[in-house]
Amino acid sequence: MFDTQKVRLDFPIFSQRINGKENCFLDTAASAQKPLIVLEAMKKAYLETYANVHRGAYFLSEETTSKYEEARKTVQTFVNAASSKEIIFTRNATESINLVASTWGKRFLKANDEVLISEAEHHANLVPWQALRDEVGFTLKIFKIADNGDFSEEAFLKHLTPKTKLVAVTAMSNVLGTIFPIQKICKKAHQVGAKVLVDACQFAVHHQIDVQKLDCDFLAFSGHKTYGPTGIGVLYGKYDLLKEMPPYQFGGDMVDVVTYQNTTYALPPARFEAGTPAIVEAIGLAEALKYMQALGLEKIMQHEQELTTYATQRLSEIGGLVQIGTAPNKGGVFSFILQDIHPQDVAFILNKEGVSVRVGHHCSYPLVKRMGYESVMRASIGLYSTKEDIDTLVKALLKAKTFF
Ligand code: ALA
Repeated sequence: MFDTQKVRLDFPIFSQRINGKENCFLDTAASAQKPLIVLEAMKKAYLETYANVHRGAYFLSEETTSKYEEARKTVQTFVNAASSKEIIFTRNATESINLVASTWGKRFLKANDEVLISEAEHHANLVPWQALRDEVGFTLKIFKIADNGDFSEEAFLKHLTPKTKLVAVTAMSNVLGTIFPIQKICKKAHQVGAKVLVDACQFAVHHQIDVQKLDCDFLAFSGHKTYGPTGIGVLYGKYDLLKEMPPYQFGGDMVDVVTYQNTTYALPPARFEAGTPAIVEAIGLAEALKYMQALGLEKIMQHEQELTTYATQRLSEIGGLVQIGTAPNKGGVFSFILQDIHPQDVAFILNKEGVSVRVGHHCSYPLVKRMGYESVMRASIGLYSTKEDIDTLVKALLKAKTFF
């Protein structure tokens, strides 16, 4: 049994009341709350052993360097990468995707090539490819999703050609909750010689990741969504690819030999981590991933799947509520509108009831438009979410309906 009430005690924020009401936090897809253990690990790192990494021949620096590199190993285990050298710390998933676009993309994509993405991408996995297309001249193709938000293999295969050099897709939509069949996508893409970049920002929060089994070439996720701190993200890349990629930024710690005339670069991952990294944030992220592993990814997935089924049912009981994104294989993200009431107005009432949800286009404006809307409401769950949270949401929505 997954004891959510016990889990919630690990998160100090749930003892806070919001507008005098119980804290009903349903915006984990935007950013997750943090367990105390993460904050304590960060505090300890600052108070007891803090110094810069990879630079000092003294106790504090050596200690912090070993914690920072251990954090890399924790991420390696979390995604089951073959080596910790395949793990690059970035600022967030957005930076991870931009890193691939600016390095691998600029070096290997040519004017006659094609890059294939889906209609369900977050701006972070759309805009970098548009910008690079404008520079390099390749064709950016976008394959359709089904009207219920599901992945369409037919649409994907229709656009996958020998010219496709990269498929960049989400593993779980931040608007629709749809889970994409990444293993299958990788297999098909590799058959035409394309590489695959996976935006696992939402997926990593709720699911076990195995990059070797998926056989993806790159995978990105953010620390702040996986119960870790802000300012830290991860890029996984197959080592053979990373080795061939030019640096992303230039400066300290990413070099091999420097002279006034020329510089040679360090091997990955150092090559992609110029300057002082987010040391304490990496330590905090490792603690968050260990926390998830200690609870058990299987148990988390099962708990959230049950809650997803419950929420889908409860929301369907509200007259005039339209759920957006009803693919059979979906995770705990629920976008919806209440007919004839502006989402901002509904959110105003929900906030008064202590319910936190996101409203708008969720940094996926073309997707929200493709589904037929300008703005939608989105409730999303995390490992600490409960049936009571869903009941509170439903009650508040009924209140909003009465009010307007
Ligand atoms: N990408 C995050 C979201 O979907 C911020 O809300």
